[in-house]
Amino acid sequence: MQSPSQPSKPASSTLEVPAVSLVPRHVAVIMDGNGRWATARHLPRMAGHERGVAALRKIVQACGEQGVEALTVFAFSSENWRRPEEEVSFLMGLFLMALEREVKALKEAQVQLRVVGDLSAFSQKLRKAIDRAVSQTADNKGLVLSVAVNYGGRWDLLSAVQQLMTDHPELAQSPASITEDKLRPYLCLSDLPEPDLFIRTGGEQRVSNFMLWQLAYTELYFTDTLWPDFDEQALALAFDSYRTRERRFGRTSAQLTSKPVAC
Ligand code: IPE
Ligand code: IPE
Ligand code: MG
Repeated sequence: MQSPSQPSKPASSTLEVPAVSLVPRHVAVIMDGNGRWATARHLPRMAGHERGVAALRKIVQACGEQGVEALTVFAFSSENWRRPEEEVSFLMGLFLMALEREVKALKEAQVQLRVVGDLSAFSQKLRKAIDRAVSQTADNKGLVLSVAVNYGGRWDLLSAVQQLMTDHPELAQSPASITEDKLRPYLCLSDLPEPDLFIRTGGEQRVSNFMLWQLAYTELYFTDTLWPDFDEQALALAFDSYRTRERRFGRTSAQLTSKPVAC
């Protein structure tokens, strides 16, 4: 769960104009299309999910090599419980297995693993495995890999408001004093820069309840490539597209070439 205390506050894209770099500092990915990848090969959907883990392994490595600071991936949404029970339990088992199997490689690659979402719905066994993997990689200084499971942007916002009001009941007397600065620290991943680049594979052009607050000024990139086929080359194409974007954050094009303007 999110913690309200942050040592150094990353820029909010709505309160100030963040610095922009050629390589995205934070990439957020909806890894979609596993089921269709498998169906196209007359395989069970589960085979697609397995290949999805392999694709993620490669993308984590590629992001590390490219100098990306943070990668956040959507692995299971708060709405994915609506899937057939058999698929849900397969996904839980796969997550458990991946946590146990991948931690060694994550440690070696200096990847710091985080898991965000409402973990209270998970089995004790899975929660313990999450805690173990997270604590074993906590001191790593490389890429911050956040896996969103049983995550929803609306859940994130609601739990942030609930926690803020629990900590500061006096705010109920003066709702106008509830500012972005007060709420933001309670949101997931508020110690990271907001995502610069959002990638959704699988052809759908929607955000499906992912990082609703954090995507305020994120550049959106959609590709028809199905997640198991998304590789280093596909990532490079997304980064190429990102580099062509003019990130104005509300300003005009002309302002981008002149001196920074206070907002
Ligand atoms: C994404 O792939 C993985 C999860 C949502 C867990 P899908 O399983 O949604 O694959 P498609 O969209 O049905 O092809
Ligand atoms: C979004 O994919 C969630 C994950 C990739 C984990 P979905 O396949 O669940 O999204 P919708 O239902 O097509 O919007
Ligand atoms: Mg899907």
